[in-house]
Amino acid sequence: MQHTAPAKIILFGEHAVVYGQPAIAVPFNTLQATATATVAPSGSGLSIHARDLNQVLQVQSVAETLDHALAYAAQLTLRQLNAPIPDLTIELWSSIPFASGFGSGAATATALIRALSHALGQPLDKEVLNGLVYEVEKMHHGTPSGIDNTVIVMNAPVYFVRGQQPQPFGVGQPLTFVIANTGVAASTKETVSAVRGLVEQAHAVYGALIDQIGQLVHEAKNHIEKGYLIGIGHLMNLNHQFLNALTVSSPLLDDLVHAAMKAGALGAKLSGGGRGGNMIALVDPADAERVAAALRSAGAAHTWVMTVAATQPAPSLQ
Ligand code: PMV
Repeated sequence: MQHTAPAKIILFGEHAVVYGQPAIAVPFNTLQATATATVAPSGSGLSIHARDLNQVLQVQSVAETLDHALAYAAQLTLRQLNAPIPDLTIELWSSIPFASGFGSGAATATALIRALSHALGQPLDKEVLNGLVYEVEKMHHGTPSGIDNTVIVMNAPVYFVRGQQPQPFGVGQPLTFVIANTGVAASTKETVSAVRGLVEQAHAVYGALIDQIGQLVHEAKNHIEKGYLIGIGHLMNLNHQFLNALTVSSPLLDDLVHAAMKAGALGAKLSGGGRGGNMIALVDPADAERVAAALRSAGAAHTWVMTVAATQPAPSLQ
């Protein structure tokens, strides 16, 4: 049986979310991580075949933490279930680009833990799974807010505040996005630490900026619930400018935002850690292909079109 987990995109509030402000993220199901577990001959132990990394990992100990996120994910699962090393082979593959703001690390860990816990006959509930993937995220990012693992495990739009239960919300009108990958890998750990440097050096200025992003996200949630697309688009542009002021945009990301707006998008912004990775543009569905073509001409390595379905009232996250 295949176990999957989607990619994600952040619609509003990245970086500010690290400081306790809200952020909004949605799953991006076109890109997926997939894992299967098959029984291996007795005595062969637990191996993970990470096809995209071209790596085979052997998990030999439950107690001694391994310095590899996927092996660590397996160890955390075994510790949670109080299980010894099983005789299993886990195959893992993913269509999610690495280091691109799509949550590749959280998605591969989620698929792997799902496959392993099912194979052991003890599937984990979402809350426990989310907690384990968060621990794995710490290995990737240092001080993650927890938004990536939460939206990926819940597989639903979330309004997220660090340390709190995620809130579901309704979507008043379908939201169509063009998503563009810059093709530039960027380290979220580095951008998060650059922002931290600014906040520590000039707290009055950058702390205020982060608070303003939080207010904007709150307003964006209202607009999304009401289906006020023009308002959502304006707030995306504003959020991009704030992220630019936090130094996490890049010339290519700015070019892509301008190209999307020129081609008729309702709003556009970088999404995720920034300085590379991906950007998103809100569009009228009739304009999606034109905006996607403009983004590719402006240097995007790849584009996708995705629609977040309207849901009223808010779906349950269970
Ligand atoms: O994993 P990324 O690149 O989508 O970034 C996650 C969002 C940040 O706010 C930049 C970091 C975090 O931990 O929330």
